[in-house]
Amino acid sequence: MKLQHGAATLVLGVQYGDEGKGKLVDVLAEQADLVCRVQGGNNAGHTIWVNGEKIVTQLLPSGILRENCEIGIGAGVVVDPFVLRDELKKVKSQGYDITPERLHVDYRASVILPYHKNLDLKRELERSKNTAKIGTTGRGIGPTYASRAYREGPRIAEISSPENFHAWLNANPHLKEGLETKVLDEFLETAEALRPYMKDLAMIANNRLAQGARVLLEGAQGAMLDVSFGTYPFVTSSNLVAGSCAGGLGIPPWKISNILGVIKAYSTRVGNGPYPAELFGDFADELRKRGNEFGTNTGRPRSVGWLDLVALRYLSRINGLTGLAIMKADVLSGIEHIGIITAYRDKRTQKEMVGYPMTQSAWENVEPVVEYVDGWECVANGLLLNKQYQAFIKKIEKYVDVPSVYISTGAERSEGLWV
Ligand code: GDP
Ligand code: IMO
Ligand code: MG
Repeated sequence: MKLQHGAATLVLGVQYGDEGKGKLVDVLAEQADLVCRVQGGNNAGHTIWVNGEKIVTQLLPSGILRENCEIGIGAGVVVDPFVLRDELKKVKSQGYDITPERLHVDYRASVILPYHKNLDLKRELERSKNTAKIGTTGRGIGPTYASRAYREGPRIAEISSPENFHAWLNANPHLKEGLETKVLDEFLETAEALRPYMKDLAMIANNRLAQGARVLLEGAQGAMLDVSFGTYPFVTSSNLVAGSCAGGLGIPPWKISNILGVIKAYSTRVGNGPYPAELFGDFADELRKRGNEFGTNTGRPRSVGWLDLVALRYLSRINGLTGLAIMKADVLSGIEHIGIITAYRDKRTQKEMVGYPMTQSAWENVEPVVEYVDGWECVANGLLLNKQYQAFIKKIEKYVDVPSVYISTGAERSEGLWV
């Protein structure tokens, strides 16, 4: 696929996160001039494999390895300065020195403070007493977005000088929790070190687009975790759908020319919440092992299940997907029959559900209708896709009415083909 000049391409997860967005963004970034994160924070963990070396990004966009492109962290992101500092250090140790000329962190991104992280953990503990916890990553993501909505949380611009930050804290004294002298000193030192990266990224992105740049927007999480369109309340705290991503950077929506939805050939979920496609028992354990389905970020084992076409079709419409990237079919190689969810039944009535689940109880009562298709021995021989796998792809395309554009055949950067 060729990235268009003067336009943006959006890469979105359309399951429960961890679809392989990092890999696709790295592949596309070869052609990009600017790659930006637009929402979420270091709840994300995006993996790239190059020649046997593994690189994981949390806050930095997955364009870091392509020295030809600039990278940005948009106004819609929540930034933990300590995490950004450590990530820059880590990628430097892997041979990628990210200069302030290359990385732009929008002044308007919200800042994660120790207070927010503590609150995240505290709220989860409270929830676990009354009801089920969300199973958050514990990074303070939700409380930081809440703090923004309360208009009390500082933004990156406010930590760019100690005077501004002190004034902000004095106006919102509860945010000082966890910022004892030693931590505060370290925080200010970190902010100072990050100051050269702080910019008006929205204006930079718009200028680049006007100059004909090819821009990539890297979604984090997946549409089933969108705060409005996901399995609420078991979701993350930001909007992830296509319609919100332009706003996470500050470019006009009409500048987005392509919206690529990333899916696995099966599905996974980490954290709590409804997951109609979930599989259990020995087969699930085997699939988890084959796919190495353990959190990139938190190391938690991911629940695994079949591909859910009901949710995918719904979310394809909401997001206006122009193409699908299908990842990890190699993990299913050698399995005789592959399941696909093609309808939702109501457990209580045994009737097919009409419409899409809107309440917690509706989600809890979804019983999946599973169809089985023939499996494949291997995904591709050279550039030729296996016949059974082609039939599987055709079924997805027909059901969701979106063409597949990229087929990933392994974790390595080089393992995949454009259709
Ligand atoms: P992201 O959060 O969407 O970027 O995805 P993660 O990096 O959290 O998880 C995806 C995992 O699948 C990573 O370990 C990738 O290296 C791996 N991966 C991506 N594409 C493929 C593929 O086609 N085949 C296999 N076997 N692994 C893949
Ligand atoms: P990437 O970008 C998978 C999940 C958490 C939890 C819920 C809320 O790597 O795909 P949060 O800390 O955001 O308040 O947690 O969302 N979650 C993810 N699951 N991949 C992610 O990111 C996720 N980011 C958050 O497990 O269920
Ligand atoms: Mg991930």
